[in-house]
Amino acid sequence: MTVAERIDDLRRRIRHHEERYYVLDDPEISDAEFDALVKQLEALEHAHPDLVTSDSPTQRVGGRPVEGFSTVEHAQAMLSLDNVYDETELRAFDERVRKGLGTPEPITYIAELKIDGLSIALTYEHGVLTRGVTRGDGARGEDVTSNVRTIRAIPLRLKEAPAGRIEVRGEVYLPRASFERLNREREENDEPLFANPRNAAAGTMRNLDPAAVARRGLSCFVYQLVGLDADPTLPTSHAGVLDRLRRMSLPVERHWRTCEGVDAVVDFCREWAEARNSLDFETDGVVVKVDDLGQRTALGATSKFPRWAIAFKFPAQQATTRLLRIELQVGRTGAVTPVAVLDPVFLAGSTISLATLHNEQEIARKDIRPGDMVLIEKGGDVIPKVVKPITSLRPQGAGEPASFVMPAKCPSCGSRLRKPEEEVVWRCENTSCPARVRRSLLHFAGRRAMDIEGLGDALVEQIVAREMVRDFADLYRLETDALAALELESGKDGQKPRRLGAKVAAKLVEQIERSRQAGLERLVFGLGIRHVGERGAQALARAFESMASLMAADVEALQAVPDVGPVVAQSVRRFFDEPRNRRLVERLAGAGVAMEATQPAAGGPQPLAGRTFVLTGTLSSMTREEAQAAIERLGGKVSSSVSRKTSYVVVGAEPGSKLEKARALQVPTLDEDAFKRLIIT
Ligand code: IVH
Repeated sequence: MTVAERIDDLRRRIRHHEERYYVLDDPEISDAEFDALVKQLEALEHAHPDLVTSDSPTQRVGGRPVEGFSTVEHAQAMLSLDNVYDETELRAFDERVRKGLGTPEPITYIAELKIDGLSIALTYEHGVLTRGVTRGDGARGEDVTSNVRTIRAIPLRLKEAPAGRIEVRGEVYLPRASFERLNREREENDEPLFANPRNAAAGTMRNLDPAAVARRGLSCFVYQLVGLDADPTLPTSHAGVLDRLRRMSLPVERHWRTCEGVDAVVDFCREWAEARNSLDFETDGVVVKVDDLGQRTALGATSKFPRWAIAFKFPAQQATTRLLRIELQVGRTGAVTPVAVLDPVFLAGSTISLATLHNEQEIARKDIRPGDMVLIEKGGDVIPKVVKPITSLRPQGAGEPASFVMPAKCPSCGSRLRKPEEEVVWRCENTSCPARVRRSLLHFAGRRAMDIEGLGDALVEQIVAREMVRDFADLYRLETDALAALELESGKDGQKPRRLGAKVAAKLVEQIERSRQAGLERLVFGLGIRHVGERGAQALARAFESMASLMAADVEALQAVPDVGPVVAQSVRRFFDEPRNRRLVERLAGAGVAMEATQPAAGGPQPLAGRTFVLTGTLSSMTREEAQAAIERLGGKVSSSVSRKTSYVVVGAEPGSKLEKARALQVPTLDEDAFKRLIIT
């Protein structure tokens, strides 16, 4: 195989696996194997830049942030949909359709889930994605091609593509899991949370940095093919269109159903109003569409909506309950936020007893008073929020307007709260504040940090209150006997105090012991450095390999790490400049906590399995032995002579005859940079 053929083959395989993973949700290979294919392609393209094409799967994220988005006119207006809210209105829609078509016969409809995202128009020319435009005002939208290209569910090149230009329309959305991860990271970084996945998706599409967009994990479903009317191979039904889109490797939401007559549509809407929370994306209703494209043309559109489709909106996931009181929560970073303690109420699959109130301005603006009946709403899987008080139900004496004021002092340690002029969040700045220490310990012990199972709320409260633990290092001095004697419930309400007991205590100590080997990635995350989330910690740990070199790194060196920007770099530097923090790290090291990054464990990923390498010439950054060890660690083999079976020849300075042989046999070559990309894990 020539290099060009090899590149072609890799691209085809990567596209295939992208479709299996992102479109069909049915992968055939592991993530590590997929990453290995991408790395091989990247390495080859790096060594042969003339062979890079814009539709290559490696080219999803372009070079630099864009300056802004230009406005583009839609070839055909992007209409919106009229809404119905109940069965009666849905049946009225069906009546209108039959009247419009002049038929008493049941209509064939397609019912689809309504994706709660933002609409997008994708242009493909000769099968290659050339443009992505938002809906905008329907007539003109913003050209967000650079962001659309980063969405892995959207193919850069279609299969079975029709010749010429086609436009495909659909919805870009943020899957629940990505949304939760995003908000978790924002919480860790002290950034404001997104209220729901739709806002997060819309905000992301407006981001000017495609690399940041790529990290958010957006996805897409398509449901429309426009401007192909003259094409004789165009399907005559919507079901046919969906099938065609699917065959072109485009992502079509798979729960759509053909419904003969409105009764079947009503059933579909009922089923999904119940089942909507089982999906991994947000849906706010069902879109009901006339299946026959001829009938659609006959029905036409008003200036705003097509007459052949309607959106059935699910009822909002809201409930009414009593606001018992407003409590203050002190977070790990000292942020003090008000939370609503509610009379527990069942809503959309779970019992809710807490809701966020954001900040004091928000409480004043909505005039929420303790004792009020309040409307609460669940948007996605976020913490529920208080929408508004039901003032007509307000009991007499339910506080005065704006009766809630932030106290001047921390509810936990009593130190004065501070708030910079331009911010809304009040903070407790005492790093030894028991509430902050508790939250920090919970973070340190968390599943994604040191993973100390069994160190939960009640226990942390006790060990902090009894001053058994003041910081992370103290955890490693806890003894089984002292823990066993702890009373977890104080015997209130006439209950007997419950002791932790020897067995549980021993297990916990064992877990704490085990966490010593968690590795630098988890430790750096667990320290809770501001702006350093799980991924940032991993990047830092892997780049510096040991705590000593991480602590010694200057801002410039920190910033050179991929994914680490100036804010993170400065925050890390500031953290380690603090003598208290340096002492803490020393004490952790003294307690035997591992300060090195974890190696890929034996039996770990073997992305180079089945590949044979030949090395020629001198590499500047490693010896030949080191190069060989790296290849072998990742499952590859090193051979001394080039043959047709050689996968890659790695070419250093002053290469020998092996390079000529590689060229003669058309074996792909990698320069040092390309090789290094391949072996970085
Ligand atoms: S069809 C002529 N199908 O909902 C309009 N729209 O509220 C054709 N949406 O603007 C739209 N899921 O952004 C259609 N399965 C689906 C949809 C869907 C979500 C969005 C779309 C539209 C909005 C209307």
